[in-house]
Amino acid sequence: MKIVIGNDHSAVELREVITAHLKERGIEVEEVGTFSHESSNYPEWGEMVARKVVAGEADLGIAICGTGVGISIACNKVKGIRAVVCSEPYSARMSREHNNANVLCFGARVVGTELAKMIVDTWLDSEFLGGRHQTRVDMITRIESEG
Ligand code: RB5
Repeated sequence: MKIVIGNDHSAVELREVITAHLKERGIEVEEVGTFSHESSNYPEWGEMVARKVVAGEADLGIAICGTGVGISIACNKVKGIRAVVCSEPYSARMSREHNNANVLCFGARVVGTELAKMIVDTWLDSEFLGGRHQTRVDMITRIESEG
């Protein structure tokens, strides 16, 4: 399992914490930045994460900004990405089981480090259930392909 992780300036520390946590779980991690506290544009980092996931360079992605909102919107503009913003574990679990989410986003200004780790663990430990959920995900893919 390989995860690509990216963030804007608001989430440098949280990305470091999450990266260390993933490595402790034995997961390979690619960090795309930013590594700087200087103000930067979250779409840039979200796009990098998303493009690596759709290219198959990583199995899943994690993208963090101040709220998780902007970076998730950016990720979702890349075809094939189903990015979700989760501030608690229940949505994280459902986003895998029902929506087959392939990028997890959250806000460094919203969740603390322990909650963020719990969200990440729940997301990674949950699997897509398929069946009627596949039908719905296929409908999303159709909407995406029709532009
Ligand atoms: C940066 O100030 C902030 O706008 C960004 O991190 C994010 O929260 C956007 O959605």
